[in-house]
Amino acid sequence: MEKFQKAVDFIRSQFPEKGFIPLHEPLFIGNERKYILDAIDSTFVSSVGAYVNRFEEMMASIAGTRYAVATVNGTSALHMALLVAGVKKEDEVLTQAFTFIATANAISYLGATPAFIDIDPLTLGMCADKLQSFLEKNATLKNGAAINKATGKRIAACVPMHSFGFPCEIDRIVEICSQWKIPVVEDAAESLGSYYKDQHTGSFGLAGVFSFNGNKTVTCGGGGAIVTNNEELAKLAKHLTTQAKVPHVWEFTHDHIGYNYRMPNLNAAFACAQLEQLSSFVENKRELASNYSGFFNKEGFEFMEETQGVRSNYWLNVLLLSDRKERDLFLSYTNDKKVMTRPAWTLMSKLPMFSTAQQDGLEVSQDIEDRLVNIPSSVRNKK
Ligand SMILES: Cc1ncc(COP(=O)(O)O)c(C=O)c1O
Repeated sequence: MEKFQKAVDFIRSQFPEKGFIPLHEPLFIGNERKYILDAIDSTFVSSVGAYVNRFEEMMASIAGTRYAVATVNGTSALHMALLVAGVKKEDEVLTQAFTFIATANAISYLGATPAFIDIDPLTLGMCADKLQSFLEKNATLKNGAAINKATGKRIAACVPMHSFGFPCEIDRIVEICSQWKIPVVEDAAESLGSYYKDQHTGSFGLAGVFSFNGNKTVTCGGGGAIVTNNEELAKLAKHLTTQAKVPHVWEFTHDHIGYNYRMPNLNAAFACAQLEQLSSFVENKRELASNYSGFFNKEGFEFMEETQGVRSNYWLNVLLLSDRKERDLFLSYTNDKKVMTRPAWTLMSKLPMFSTAQQDGLEVSQDIEDRLVNIPSSVRNKK
């Protein structure tokens, strides 16, 4: 317990003014109030307004893509990105079992089923080697599409996730998927401000998706974005997220089943103010991670570090304990001391909705689920 108490003391030393230390709290020290009041004064508080367009321009510029489409949250962004990527009922979509529920739910909204690929212990994201083995073992190319030999279903997309902000080996994943004619939709919900080989996460595949939920690096209460270089796809995503209304001054005509998924201008104003601070927030988080790294390595903990050639936003810092028993002891010790820590998500493959989905053994995913703890990672207010 001495080791755990030292960890608590060190985490507290990083957040000196706090009684209870949350896992990740938002920070509003920029133009948030100013822009939100401006949106209110303009009367454009709903899904049309200058801030929505500005948010999209900012997101495209940050991600380094030609287009960005604003959505109400990251889950709707995933749903729409998969829809416009061509995922249909009875299709299969490759993803991770080690992810937040929204990734698997978005696949299900389209009537498709997930198949789970194991993760890489160095990145905690989809393992490129395991993806390749899965496809070699289970898939065949027929008329330009990958078909799962076991289920007979088309493998319509692959959704790797950049877990806790650590970029996965996305260039190899995209390369493997392109050989199998499988479009990649990156779940970059957690990795705004993270780069893989100097290129922003979310910009490697056909589309990438971000979340602006209250617990993310920057937030607007609720919000999401789809980024892409594909003009047709961006236009279709925007159309479908705005009820598929055919543009006209007064007529109400719709040419698809659409969705009320567009981000309101009020949230976009909020998001623009937060995005202005993204670089400084990420710097601040990287400094915290560096402090943690120094301490935890010295004290014999396994602290998760970014791999060579990437730049993580360190959204949530990660400790790996020796086994599930030690993990649980650490969780209860730290939470008792009002230092919030939490385990990883239960693997998707263990949830009743996805328990029959195909998977590749998931040894690393299970090991990481047993040992992982997230520790406080908020941006520290230095003003
Ligand atoms: C990996 C991942 N995917 C998707 C989402 C969904 O985003 P949202 O909560 O904005 O719907 C989140 C976060 O909440 C996430 O962590």
